[in-house]
Amino acid sequence: MRSWSIVSLLALVALSLVLSGCGVTGANAEMPTDLPAGDPSRGATLFSESINGAPSCAGCHSLNDSVVVGPGLQNYAANAKVHANGSSVEAYTYTSIVQPGNYIVSGFGNVMYAQYGRQLTPQQIADLIAYLLTL
Ligand code: HEC
Repeated sequence: MRSWSIVSLLALVALSLVLSGCGVTGANAEMPTDLPAGDPSRGATLFSESINGAPSCAGCHSLNDSVVVGPGLQNYAANAKVHANGSSVEAYTYTSIVQPGNYIVSGFGNVMYAQYGRQLTPQQIADLIAYLLTL
């Protein structure tokens, strides 16, 4: 009885790992409800700076359609709508910054810097989201 419940527990863990690994759709993107209002002009400045020791967004993203390491962000707001696949563009953008592996833009690898969720303040993330959605 006891070993049986351990087996089912392991099966459950394995199943949830598989499910989360398959979650490469923007449809389940979520954003904290208490994120402060973002300021796009502060976001524009942050975009091209190294923030709290993290690499700058501009180091990997151009503002036109040319690829540096990541996709060029020209027409980002329109592209985000497609990639969000039913989630809001704000939630999709939030997830793209704090958990970049959740949705991988087609043609790219999962190589975006993954520690922004720890190194940026909620205000800085909100400012970046506001800025990106003006593009
Ligand atoms: C080390 C390079 C690198 C850095 C630094 C980086 N990114 Fe990215 N980013 C990528 C790559 C590669 C992708 C495409 C793969 C993916 O979807 O994760 C991407 C994808 C994205 C997307 C999704 C684009 C779309 O069209 O759906 C957003 C939004 C984004 N990055 C924002 C940012 C912001 C904001 C910063 C700075 C806080 C940043 N990135 C820093 C490499 C980077």
